Amino acid sequence: MKLVVTGSLGNISQPLTEILVTLEHEVTVISSDVKKQTAIEALGASAAIGSIADVDFLTAAFQGADAVYAMIPLSFTEPDLGKYLRRIAKNYVQALNTTKVKRVVVMSGWVADLIKSENLENEFNSLEASVTFMRPGSFYTNFYQHVDMIKGRGLMGKLLTLRYSGFWALLTGKTGLLMGNCGGDDRIIFVSPKDIAVAVAEELVLMTEQSTIRYVGSEELTCNEAARIIGTAVGKPWLKWVLLSDKAMLQGLKMAKVPEKLAETLVEMQAAMHSGKPLENFHRNHPKMGNVKLTNFAQEFARVYHQN
Ligand SMILES: NC(=O)c1ccc[n+]([C@@H]2O[C@H](COP(=O)([O-])OP(=O)(O)OC[C@H]3O[C@@H](n4cnc5c(N)ncnc54)[C@H](OP(=O)(O)O)[C@@H]3O)[C@@H](O)[C@H]2O)c1
Repeated sequence: MKLVVTGSLGNISQPLTEILVTLEHEVTVISSDVKKQTAIEALGASAAIGSIADVDFLTAAFQGADAVYAMIPLSFTEPDLGKYLRRIAKNYVQALNTTKVKRVVVMSGWVADLIKSENLENEFNSLEASVTFMRPGSFYTNFYQHVDMIKGRGLMGKLLTLRYSGFWALLTGKTGLLMGNCGGDDRIIFVSPKDIAVAVAEELVLMTEQSTIRYVGSEELTCNEAARIIGTAVGKPWLKWVLLSDKAMLQGLKMAKVPEKLAETLVEMQAAMHSGKPLENFHRNHPKMGNVKLTNFAQEFARVYHQN
């Protein structure tokens, strides 16, 4: 089949491309960075270099495709996440309808239907193809964004460690923690992007008329259990994931200079996870858990952590 993968050599798209090429599909990978062309071709795929913000480029890239994996990269520089998601989703819908692609797999998330400010899935309502919305839990790879906090590095990391762990951290030098307005003993579905890639590959080649939703997870853990696994792998078995109030989280994001609207959306997402509703929805759908457990990822994480 002729398949188009957006998301370049990202967490999901690289393993997804590897799977699809192994299955002998003709794969085109979209990247905005010409420097990725050689690496994409080395996987046995073709590269289409351009931006998903450019509807004419997307239309040309989707021409003749049997199925498309459509993802919208999270942007931490866009001041209004909702506006940005709607803009890019509109481009996808226009390009996919123009090229009459019959099958589309859209990357969504397990809180998508619980977020008031933007439900990305609604933006794909006018798609003429059969669509599957992927609703994965929280990616293991998110831990990479917290290396500095785990190291207790930088003023923010040090101040927050002292604020939440008190003199104990100061006396023992056991710095570092994780935090969020979802945390502590909240139960979360964690997921490996490699397991998501397996699920997306299965969905892309399904020639169904029906539109569906697919939840994806690798392991269910409390946030503190996850912190202990990650902490143990990097020599900090005491690592904790502190639960903050929504207000404290919003303040923290503002201190970190995250644009206001974006910060509000991030807090809303975590508040939804803290409520336990995404977990209920996940279990109601009975998805099979993927193979990659957090202890497996923790080994990869430890290598990156020690290089930083
Ligand atoms: N993190 C989570 O816990 C979580 C949970 C649920 C859902 N999700 C969703 O999962 C998705 C992230 O997937 P991922 O981790 O595989 O992505 P990723 O690793 O962040 O990779 C995305 C890639 O997209 C490419 N890109 C960026 N801007 C582009 C543009 N304008 N045009 C074309 N390509 C562009 C970039 O590569 P180039 O530089 O090569 O262009 C980038 O590496 C998002 O949609 C997110 O909302 C995440």
